[in-house]
Amino acid sequence: MKAREVLTHFMAIAQAAAAMMAVMGQGSGGGGGIPTTLDGPFDPVTRRLDPSLRSGSNDLPMDHPRLKKNVTSSFPEQISLALSADPSSMWVSWVTGDAQIGKNVTPLDPSSVASEVWYGTKSGKYASQQDGKSTVYSQLYPFEGLLNYTSGIIHHVRLEGLEPGMTYYFKCGDSSVQAMSDEYSFKTMPSPGPNAYPSRIAVIGDLGLTSNSSTTINHVIKNDPALVLMVGDLTYANQYLTTGGQGASCFSCSFPNAPIRETYQPRWDGWGRFMEPLTSRVPMMVIEGNHEIEPQVDGITFQSYLTRFAVPSEESRSNSSFYYSFNAGGAHFIMLGAYVDYNITGTQYSWLMDDLHRVNRSLTPWVVAAWHPPWYNSYNSHYQEFECMRQEMEALLYQYKVDIVFNGHVHAYERMNRVYNYTLDPCGPVYITVGDGGNIEKVDVDFADDPGKCPKPDDNKPEFGGLCHLNFTSGPAKGNFCWSKQPEWSAYRESSFGHGILEVVNSTYALWTWHRNQDAYKEDTPGDQIFIVRQPKLCSPTTKETSDPPQGAQESEPTSPSSTVILSSKMMWLMSLLVALFGIVVR
Ligand SMILES: [Fe+2]
Repeated sequence: MKAREVLTHFMAIAQAAAAMMAVMGQGSGGGGGIPTTLDGPFDPVTRRLDPSLRSGSNDLPMDHPRLKKNVTSSFPEQISLALSADPSSMWVSWVTGDAQIGKNVTPLDPSSVASEVWYGTKSGKYASQQDGKSTVYSQLYPFEGLLNYTSGIIHHVRLEGLEPGMTYYFKCGDSSVQAMSDEYSFKTMPSPGPNAYPSRIAVIGDLGLTSNSSTTINHVIKNDPALVLMVGDLTYANQYLTTGGQGASCFSCSFPNAPIRETYQPRWDGWGRFMEPLTSRVPMMVIEGNHEIEPQVDGITFQSYLTRFAVPSEESRSNSSFYYSFNAGGAHFIMLGAYVDYNITGTQYSWLMDDLHRVNRSLTPWVVAAWHPPWYNSYNSHYQEFECMRQEMEALLYQYKVDIVFNGHVHAYERMNRVYNYTLDPCGPVYITVGDGGNIEKVDVDFADDPGKCPKPDDNKPEFGGLCHLNFTSGPAKGNFCWSKQPEWSAYRESSFGHGILEVVNSTYALWTWHRNQDAYKEDTPGDQIFIVRQPKLCSPTTKETSDPPQGAQESEPTSPSSTVILSSKMMWLMSLLVALFGIVVR
């Protein structure tokens, strides 16, 4: 065994031992330890907002030091990384040149600046070079009084032939005009396999570009992630110009005569600079939200999202930046598009079915899915908004036993008990909403079960797809659109800004921690923390076929895993740990 493998093995064992200590420190009675999903389903808990925390969410100004351009025209800026489908490759992206905004704009020539990355495993020595592609986009509003925009040159280079789990140093730019960046570094993901995972995976949603967004990103950086999932609604560029940075709850109400919802694209450049301290060294995987739609003339949409971000669409066979998948160690991630066709008859669904079918759970035991609007949501905001998508896709995710689902869209935090088809189910995914990144629209505080807060079915119209609202057909909310108390599938909900960190320990245990922004500057106690535990024998993707037709909201008696299952799972895990320890001793 090589020295690095020995070290990696020891680190994995140490991680597992730490997790075991935490688990063994708690029992069914709690005892102050970290709970596990095996202890669930949990009685619903609500932590209401301290109203004093709901203020101070204005947008950062364009001349803010974190948004201002700090390089001359041809030098790279907004440097960011994204994973390809496997650890042997990595996308490096950046922007050169000056964007223009005004009545008359002239697109830059993308071929006028080269796209080079020099890289290697030793600082200052770049044994390899890879060239890539470059492009520009324009956002056009040929209406009186509105401004057109054309971007700087956006460069994407895919590095290949990388070693897993290795630190690489790189510079990017155009050496022919002596415009290479400073040196940056990144670490590749571990190879797919059940015993190696990225150390910490940050999950952020609905970030925006406000003072609260700053706190979130500072907090994320402090938590030192190896990978970032960004689950949609990135910059809120479409809220900036027309609201003066103050936010408007209803655009069409505030601007009834506007010919089109104008976005202020320089916010994207500001956001790229704002994120660079994180994204230039940690890969960030994005998926689109409704704020990325950004309609312009001729029905063109999503131009900024599609042009600025490199995602492994070809590498994961989706050939679409709206949905794709990738591996990070023993975890397979599936990023789904809620604002493109998600119907059973569509190409996304076919791709998803194929992608799930091809997952080898002995190599990537964990399957994590993410998309923007949640299916399970007990807040008043966006309540049952994407019920159509749930009815189309939920059975497929359940059939293949997706372990965790991350969403945003609702500007608050909520973690669900394991659930399938609105029925508590020990083999359903753990759904978690983290749309609490801190954008200008402020945190959501009302619940659909609050007196007088149940929305009318068409209050929450999706920006894509139809309405499929149905009343619950059984259980405590039978005959009603809303519950009269926190639904039993909602385990914990809190109206605070923050982000989450997922730490996969081994093939069955992963620690989820939600960090509140207000805890960032004091002793950082978790806002919510739980071990998410897989039960591959109980919940096999192949042995439990899902023949239930998609249907409306239903309820049934909660089903909790038996104590025998809990005990056997913990014993099996302990045994596997001992085998690992023994294995390292005899080598
Ligand atoms: Fe959203």
